[in-house]
Amino acid sequence: MDKRFYLTTPIYYVNGVPHVGSATTTLLCDALARFHRLRGETVFFLTGTDEHGSKVAEAAAKAGLSPQALVDRNSRQFADCWNYLHVSYDDFIRTSEPRHMEVVAEVFRRLLAKGDIYASQYEGWYSVADETFLRDSEVRDGRSLETGAEVRRITEDNYFFRLSAYQDRLLQHIEANPNFLQPDTRRNEVLAFIKEGLRDVAISRTNAGWDIPVPNDPAQSIYVWFDAVINYLSATGWPNDAAWDTLWPADLHLVGKEIYTRFHATLWPAMLMGLDLPLPGTVLGHGWWLIGGEKGAKSKGNIPTPQEVVEELVARSGADPEVAKDALRYYLLRDISYTSDAEFSIDNLIQNRYNPELCNKLGNLLNRTLKMLAQYAGGVIPDCAAQTQDGPLATLAREAAQDAERAMLAFDPGAALEAALKLVEGGNGDIDRTAPWKLAKAGDTAGMGEALYAALEATRIAAVLLTPMLPHVADVIRAQLGLSGKPLADWAHETQWGGLPAGTQTEEAHPIFPRIDTKREPKPALKKEPAMPETKIEDTPPAPPALAVPDAPAVPSYITIDDFAKIQLKIGEIKTADRVEGATKLLKLTVDIGEDAPRQILAGIAESYAPESLPGLKIVVVANLAPRKMRGLESQGMLMAATDAEGHAILLHPADPAAVPPGAQVR
Ligand code: MSP
Repeated sequence: MDKRFYLTTPIYYVNGVPHVGSATTTLLCDALARFHRLRGETVFFLTGTDEHGSKVAEAAAKAGLSPQALVDRNSRQFADCWNYLHVSYDDFIRTSEPRHMEVVAEVFRRLLAKGDIYASQYEGWYSVADETFLRDSEVRDGRSLETGAEVRRITEDNYFFRLSAYQDRLLQHIEANPNFLQPDTRRNEVLAFIKEGLRDVAISRTNAGWDIPVPNDPAQSIYVWFDAVINYLSATGWPNDAAWDTLWPADLHLVGKEIYTRFHATLWPAMLMGLDLPLPGTVLGHGWWLIGGEKGAKSKGNIPTPQEVVEELVARSGADPEVAKDALRYYLLRDISYTSDAEFSIDNLIQNRYNPELCNKLGNLLNRTLKMLAQYAGGVIPDCAAQTQDGPLATLAREAAQDAERAMLAFDPGAALEAALKLVEGGNGDIDRTAPWKLAKAGDTAGMGEALYAALEATRIAAVLLTPMLPHVADVIRAQLGLSGKPLADWAHETQWGGLPAGTQTEEAHPIFPRIDTKREPKPALKKEPAMPETKIEDTPPAPPALAVPDAPAVPSYITIDDFAKIQLKIGEIKTADRVEGATKLLKLTVDIGEDAPRQILAGIAESYAPESLPGLKIVVVANLAPRKMRGLESQGMLMAATDAEGHAILLHPADPAAVPPGAQVR
């Protein structure tokens, strides 16, 4: 079998919980794995959990659980979180599994037999919190200079790994393989670290607890980091599984910067050299998410979980939760940096990425173009691939695809997102320039068709470029373009101009990323799509004559108080709110107006309010409007709403909702 593209995340400590930091590394790998699969390669994407060590034993004792029960429970949280985010891992390795523990013992035996492992005495500092041995120069006042964690002075008989013996070979390998350590800043840090002089490292501890015992010396247990890095090899089935070398060497180890130099760029490669195994193609380290300038960590309680961010996005935007997950993916992948740290905040996510890029640029391009196509051409893709293939958008699409591919091959999903966005911006700019609504008005059907085809084809290609990063959103875009039944071919085919077949019936446009109004209170979430020229409003129920004043007459025609008294206005409390299948603007509500049962009311407010934001709200209802049917459903009243500058319905509420019960008269 051919060599597979093999990439790994760090294995996460089970005594932590998944958060947006660990999710970032995992999602970077997910995007790269999906990209390589889209290119037609066979991929093996490994993640997992790091389950040994005294910290785990201590946590289990505190929780009143056996260590195995604790690690089973906590490891599942990581798998659940990655499944929630649709991480496409191929294998999930746990260091408490026999398949891993046996390989660790085998590595130990081989290195011992070779003389690369020897027994000696360790006298120095150890940090339990970081599971790290430290030099005197790395400690001040009983704490690690790097992490601030408490250290203990220990004197132990230990086994040592002869790291110093690999100093020169490591330097040679790094110099000869410019792609091995990335980015350059980290490579330079590693070179400086090695040149300072590598010292042999203790790789066992006495007082074995919840660890892998040293073969033939059960009083000693294997140091967690020696154990942990071997996961990358044990997952391949080395040395007994015949197919292990279809995986090894790994093409990419992706890790955060704090575990880069000491563990992934020196100890692990030296161990592999000791085993006469080839080294991984690339070890890549990224920067941290900071929260208020400090490293985000669950132990500090300052970093949210992916679920928390997604829930907040859904509450504030009314977006589909699957879309919100992709919005989080977009932000994490676009703003994490390989060379520096970045500040994480939901406000940054919304103000820098969600609203301006996903909603105003990507969502808007698709929405406005599809609406125009529906209005002027029955939603059917015109036969214009050939006429547009040398046009400015086709050129831009080719460049964007090349840029995105180059970025992904350089392990940089953030740069690939930028390339896709450039194409989206080009699409919007082209629509503004060609103004298909003017062409349609002027009867230039051919020109209008070409303009719309080019914009829609650019949108399709942008969705292909986004597929590895935003898998759900890319599918929704394809579905709206009428391509849901058409399987995705490979990257090379899908990025060719002209893939949108003439005659395809597109779906009704509906906004993917409801805009988040940052000036309003988070709830109720107000959704606004940017205004679009010349659209038809299909589902808005016509307002009854008594309340609709389309063009205010110059001289007001008065009504009497008796006329007004005919309209029965009551306070209602919204009980439930649901979308109506097939209608983009209607919501189906049940509203308590103080009667025996709540009324069913249909309201054209779906573009302004997320259904989940409505229950519990007090509103004003016209209670004696004759019932009428909309979309086959009976509406038994009408909500009162004002209209904002962009034509969106804004509901009216009592100033003191608690003071007025459902059914209270409005006069
Ligand atoms: N178990 C070790 C890794 C062993 S790999 C053989 C470990 N685990 S960890 O749970 O602490 O995970 C650390 C990793 O989580 C980092 O390397 C990084 O990938 C990710 N992150 C943790 N906090 C982070 C930020 N604040 N920002 C970005 N990534 C972060 O270390």
